[in-house]
Amino acid sequence: MDMLHDGDIDVAPLSGKRVAILGYGNQGRAQALNLKDSGVNVVVGLRGASGSANTAEEAGLEVGLIEDAVASADIVMFLAPDEVLGSIYREVEARIRYGAAIGFSHGLAIHFGFIRPRTDLDVFLVAPKGPGSALRSLFQQRRGMVGLWAIAHDASGHARELALAYGKAIGCARAGLIASTFAEECEADLFNEQAVVWGAVPEILIAGFETLVEGGIAPEVAFLECVGELKLIAELIEQRGIAGMREAISNTAKLGAVLGGPRIVDDSIRAKMREVLAEVRSGKFAQELKAEADAGYPLLEKARAEASGKTVEQAFRALKDAEPRP
Ligand SMILES: NC(=O)c1ccc[n+]([C@@H]2O[C@H](COP(=O)([O-])OP(=O)(O)OC[C@H]3O[C@@H](n4cnc5c(N)ncnc54)[C@H](OP(=O)(O)O)[C@@H]3O)[C@@H](O)[C@H]2O)c1
Repeated sequence: MDMLHDGDIDVAPLSGKRVAILGYGNQGRAQALNLKDSGVNVVVGLRGASGSANTAEEAGLEVGLIEDAVASADIVMFLAPDEVLGSIYREVEARIRYGAAIGFSHGLAIHFGFIRPRTDLDVFLVAPKGPGSALRSLFQQRRGMVGLWAIAHDASGHARELALAYGKAIGCARAGLIASTFAEECEADLFNEQAVVWGAVPEILIAGFETLVEGGIAPEVAFLECVGELKLIAELIEQRGIAGMREAISNTAKLGAVLGGPRIVDDSIRAKMREVLAEVRSGKFAQELKAEADAGYPLLEKARAEASGKTVEQAFRALKDAEPRP
């Protein structure tokens, strides 16, 4: 593994450079504020009707329209949702300075061809491996979040140094910057979102909860067992790894895990995981994401509407309401 830290990286490539951060959402806010605190000249680029302009200005950031921010910058960081990055790039391409650099925090838009950058541009990736809120709060605690970095096009001959300096300025190198590629970062990320942490894990929590409730267990008890303990196992795994986590639980839990885990996650689940990876690699998911955005997000709206009516949410709210008031 090729992992670099603060001491391995020079921030000089950012000196005298101006960075335009396009979008002030999860990553845009965190990266803009971390860059500013690292002494980098930053401007946040937003669309005309953006409700985020005031928030960014109140945080002490310079804010401008996307097209003006792009025209004034040496580095343009695309931090709006992945599915709209292609249209944003096409709108501003002519305003990006000759020989500038463009950066991303996800490989998707470049790897799956939503954007085909001009050949005079450096194209780099710095992808923090976690949400923007944590990237910012870790930075404020003088800590950092691990990130992946990669270069898709090195027009200047200095794209590597620039990407690493950017990763250091947003705080990732405090924890470690790992060399990767646009393909590897986005395939692994899209796979995990569907098949592991963000897709499969919540579904297995709900399935377990519903199985217990169907079997006559009180919803609040089922919730505490199947959902409430997730934080505990996540913390143990983060501190000790999976084998170490098993050492910290009772023999009863250990035997249950050894017998039950492989029975639930059997070969049929692994075969479906391979299917998901193949679909991600073929670009099928990227096209589905684009189609969903073009249609006005009907599947996401439907899922949002259905989620709050589920029994598992009622159990969550009942437990929250019963918590002692501070
Ligand atoms: N979520 C994370 O923490 C996370 C973690 C790692 C990597 N990433 C990557 O970071 C990038 C940004 O993701 P995110 O979750 O931070 O995005 P996000 O929070 O959804 O981005 C919201 C921002 O994008 C702007 N925006 C949305 N649609 C736009 C459009 N059509 N034209 C112009 N601006 C538009 C919004 O503008 P308004 O203010 O006008 O609404 C808002 O400022 C993505 O590549 C993502 O994969 C995200």
